[in-house]
Amino acid sequence: MKNCYETYPFSEKNIKVMRPGGVALTDEMILACGLDESAKVLDVGCGIGTVVHHLRSKYGYDVMGIDCSPILIQKGLINVPGLSIKVGNAEDLPYLESTLDCILMECTLSVFQNPQQVLKEAYRVMQSGSKLVISDVYLKERSCPSSIKSSVKTEKEVKQLIRTQGFKILKWSEKTPLLHSYIAEMIWNQSGDQKSGFLSEFCSLTGVSGLKLGYFSLVAEK
Ligand SMILES: C[S@@+](CC[C@H](N)C(=O)[O-])C[C@H]1O[C@@H](n2cnc3c(N)ncnc32)[C@H](O)[C@@H]1O
Repeated sequence: MKNCYETYPFSEKNIKVMRPGGVALTDEMILACGLDESAKVLDVGCGIGTVVHHLRSKYGYDVMGIDCSPILIQKGLINVPGLSIKVGNAEDLPYLESTLDCILMECTLSVFQNPQQVLKEAYRVMQSGSKLVISDVYLKERSCPSSIKSSVKTEKEVKQLIRTQGFKILKWSEKTPLLHSYIAEMIWNQSGDQKSGFLSEFCSLTGVSGLKLGYFSLVAEK
């Protein structure tokens, strides 16, 4: 299946992260985790590895990233040779049990085909007390017809999914304004004649047409 994050608009040269909030949101969430400097952190669905590089340079953590896209991993390694990112499937993490202190899933939970299996794997490789950090879109309501078959979940469904895998949710933060400014910025960056059609093209590419969406961040603990 085609990975839409390998193509336009995400393939634009100036795109460093493919989601609202940028590294500022990552910083906010990671600081809430209170990690040691030697913490082992994994970014699951790391894209081109921008956050891996950022967290390693800014905080000195031992950060790794995996993504299922060879194209994005190769792009990341061209940008930063030697960066610890590799091709891998979030449903089958190539790490030993109870070895990681923190896992990041930034705008990926709603993208994974089998989020239950991904969370199960995350739980396996995390130590007791380790932190799971998630930011993502969520459905404001499941009543509109286009939401019925959507893989995007409501707040209640997201929390239930995470708790069912054994995690304790420490903090849920409402971040919907970041989604609005992200979309506005994407439209703004289009050239004049592309502006009008961009939103519908973007929504159909990411599968969110007609949905009432919000954005959240959360920190959970094993
Ligand atoms: C919306 S992008 C977010 C990328 C990155 N976290 C960021 O903040 O820019 C979703 C990413 O998840 C990756 N992905 C989707 N399914 C995956 C899987 N099963 N295993 C690993 N990566 C996956 C995609 O290739 C894509 O890079």
